[in-house]
Amino acid sequence: MAQPIALDDLTVNNKEVLRKINEVVLPTRYPDEFYSKALQSGELVKLGDEIPVGAVKAKLIVPQHHSVPTSIYIESIAVLEPYRNFGIGKKFIQHLEEQAKISYIHEITAHIWIKQPEILEWYQKQGFEIKGEVENYYKDQKLDEPTAIAISKKF
Ligand SMILES: CC(C)(COP(=O)(O)OP(=O)(O)OC[C@H]1O[C@@H](n2cnc3c(N)ncnc32)[C@H](O)[C@@H]1OP(=O)(O)O)[C@@H](O)C(=O)NCCC(=O)NCCS
Repeated sequence: MAQPIALDDLTVNNKEVLRKINEVVLPTRYPDEFYSKALQSGELVKLGDEIPVGAVKAKLIVPQHHSVPTSIYIESIAVLEPYRNFGIGKKFIQHLEEQAKISYIHEITAHIWIKQPEILEWYQKQGFEIKGEVENYYKDQKLDEPTAIAISKKF
C-alpha cells in the first residue's frame, strides 16, 4: 500500500526547498522577500512530500583481534548545495556521536581529500583533529591527487 503523503512545515532548515522547487518548475521568479515571508505564513505554506536533502553513511570499525567495534568511520557525508550551512551536517555528526555513545564507542574517524581544505575546516569546527596524511588513499578514484588526511574526533 502506498504511504500517505506527508505535508511538511516550512522551517529555517528546509526553506530553500520551496525556492528550489519554484525555480525548477515555474517560469516566474519571486524576490527574496517572498521566501523570507514564507517562514511567517504558518499553515498556508507547506512542503510535500518528504524530501531528503542530505545524507550520511558510516560504519562500525572492529580492529583485528578485537571482538567489539572501537570507532565509527564516516564513509560519506553530503548535503545538497542549496541546503548547506543550515546545520544538517552538524546534526549528522551529533547523531553519529549519540550512536557511538550508546555502544560505548569513543571515537569517530574519517578521511578527507587533501584538496578540500574547506571540508577539513568544517570537520575541525565539529571537533575533529588531524591524525596524519595517507598517501594513495584515493588511488582508485581517478583523482589527480590521491592523498587523504585522516581525522578523528574523540569523546
Ligand atoms: C561538509 C558538509 C556535509 C557540511 O554540511 P552542512 O549542512 O553545510 O554543515 P552545517 O550547516 O551543519 O555546518 C555547521 C557549522 O559549520 C560551519 N561551517 C560551514 N562551512 C564551513 C567551513 N568551510 N569551514 C568552517 N566552518 C564551516 C557553519 O558556519 C556552522 O557553524 P555554527 O555551528 O557555528 O553555526 C557540506 O558542506 C557538503 O556536503 N559538502 C560537499 C560534500 C563533501 O565534500 N563532503 C565531504 C567529503 S566526505
